[in-house]
Amino acid sequence: MSADPSARAEELRRHIAYHNQRYYVFDDPEIADDEYDALLDELRAIEAAHPELVTPDSPTQRVGAAPVSSLEKVTHELPMLSLANARSADELRAWVDRMRNHLAREGIEDPEFTYVCEPKVDGLAISLRYEDGVFVRGATRGNGEIGEDVTHNLRTIPSIPLRIADAPPVLEVRGEVYMSLPDFQALNERRAEQGLSTFMNPRNSAAGTIRQLDPKLAAERPLSLWAYALGVVDGLRFARHSEGLDWLREHGFPVNRDIVKLDSEEAVVAQCLDWQERRGSLDFEIDGVVVKVDDLELQRRLGVVGRDPRWAIAWKFPPTTKVTTLKSVEWNVGKFGDLRPFAVLEPVQVGGVTVKLATLHNEEDIARKDLRVGEEVIVLRAGDVIPQVVSPAPHVAEQANRPPIPRPPDLCPRCGTPTVKPEGHIFTMCPNRVCPGRSWQLLKHFVSRGAMDIDGLGEKQVAQLMEAGLVRTAADFYRLDPEALLELEGWGEISVERILKAIETSKTRPFGRVLFAIGIEEVGEVTGRNLAQQFRTIDALMNATPEQVEATPGVGEKMAHTILEQLNDEHMVALVEDLRSHGIQFELEGPPPGEGHLAGQTFVLTGTLPDLTREEATERILAAGGRVTSSVSKKTSYVVAGASPGSKLAKAERLEVPVLDEPGLLELLDPAS
Ligand code: IVH
Repeated sequence: MSADPSARAEELRRHIAYHNQRYYVFDDPEIADDEYDALLDELRAIEAAHPELVTPDSPTQRVGAAPVSSLEKVTHELPMLSLANARSADELRAWVDRMRNHLAREGIEDPEFTYVCEPKVDGLAISLRYEDGVFVRGATRGNGEIGEDVTHNLRTIPSIPLRIADAPPVLEVRGEVYMSLPDFQALNERRAEQGLSTFMNPRNSAAGTIRQLDPKLAAERPLSLWAYALGVVDGLRFARHSEGLDWLREHGFPVNRDIVKLDSEEAVVAQCLDWQERRGSLDFEIDGVVVKVDDLELQRRLGVVGRDPRWAIAWKFPPTTKVTTLKSVEWNVGKFGDLRPFAVLEPVQVGGVTVKLATLHNEEDIARKDLRVGEEVIVLRAGDVIPQVVSPAPHVAEQANRPPIPRPPDLCPRCGTPTVKPEGHIFTMCPNRVCPGRSWQLLKHFVSRGAMDIDGLGEKQVAQLMEAGLVRTAADFYRLDPEALLELEGWGEISVERILKAIETSKTRPFGRVLFAIGIEEVGEVTGRNLAQQFRTIDALMNATPEQVEATPGVGEKMAHTILEQLNDEHMVALVEDLRSHGIQFELEGPPPGEGHLAGQTFVLTGTLPDLTREEATERILAAGGRVTSSVSKKTSYVVAGASPGSKLAKAERLEVPVLDEPGLLELLDPAS
């Protein structure tokens, strides 16, 4: 480690760039998030003490640049092209025939094509210019000839390298900036909560973000990049497109891992259909597959017609938006009493799934979109995201002859309690703490996967138990009587026994999960776990001051107050007592930090263990004082490997980290047995 601040700053920037690549490009980080943050903190400290050492490509400079007054025009040295479409296997074959005919005229008979198939990510095309390895300018595609300078916003995207090693003097990288579906959904939920307009789709939200003048906005919205091509390059030559992609990946650019090289049209068609099938399971939106000829000499010979290269084509998937009729608007009561509107639609097929219901976010959003019952609307279904109503259909220009959608009901649709709209709150609420609509949401949440994970209890069974009067609060699950269950429709001996066993098993869920499961506003899975680690017992947490709660990672001032207020509410206090009397965990097992016989030891789990789930193994290691991290480094004490281990096992072997199987781990956890 260098003592000279200037040299140390350089060293840190190199390390940080390397770890960025491990994380964003290879999806295989070598260090934990807190170690990464420590590097960044150290660099920030050096730069604060020596402002003259700050460089524009420093990772500390991603945020905080001043807003620009307008977006400057940028002329692309090489135009950014678009793509012709194919919508069927026949159209794809016709494309290949056109290429063959064109090459035959050029005197090339029977060319051998290797194709590169890339997911066509639905975002926006951008160009990144590097000079001597430093990111100097980023631009949108614009009309292909002239785009806009959006360097200030692109800089905020963590997966875009600000500097690259062994770079040629000039390098232009092209790719697609996009917003992942989970990020998009979270952003829209956040905006709905704040009473802001929601974005129509991930593409619009990425496009709207990238053209902002103030980079602070872009920094708050999680954008990502897939690099898919080189533009102007001075001092680097490749024979194949795929070699360029490999080079990009090796130099720190995120290149999609699903990209494949294929040798025949049939294989390409099969690949396109396969992605079409699987598109819903990706966590970003793709609207097709881009098929490119790999050989760059053939690409050059094939050339461009208009704006479309002859050497590439976009296989387009059927759309995920559809027009249908809005039949009515209904209201759901949320976990915390919020009245949430949803649309009942004339059933319609969207991207292979029948959609009958769609979210409408909140009352402001309905008014803003000016939807009317009986009119046609556009519905969007993207991946696993809940379908949403985007807008009235384009031809529905005159809305005047239908009444606007009524405001939220004055009485709760589930329990009839008069609704209220608290000052500054976006949602109208049912104030009844024991409203069955609200309880249903809370109980569904309690039994769900990330929470108490009670197998066999889903929304249907919970509704049944509530209707039969067997369950009102979460503690009632632990009082269920097998006789009463057997009387329910559809419940036999086997299923009753299985469910009771699953309920019993849920008593072993660790305290952090319990905190998440009982339904405290603002407490998600991660915050639940962090609060448990910070306070260790429910009593310590309930009696904490807001300042102490705020000291928990990820908890802000307002959140700390909400958490304490909710935890000390009389219904919650009663629920906690009731659950505790049934043996639910309200304390973190195991030794305080730094103690226990595995204290100081770090474990990485990979593959499937024969008996223990990954979570059980993690909990037992934590209970013995050890730590579990996600990536192998020289500092890892043990890698625990089960069946089908990933690259982590290979890495452990390379770094000579000891590898354990399940019996080996159990032995270490409990040496006496
Ligand atoms: S290549 C050949 N590769 O699709 C020149 N484009 O319709 C075209 N896109 O503007 C660019 N993923 O926004 C290429 N893997 C990919 C792509 C991709 C998405 C977008 C890009 C472009 C549009 C062309």
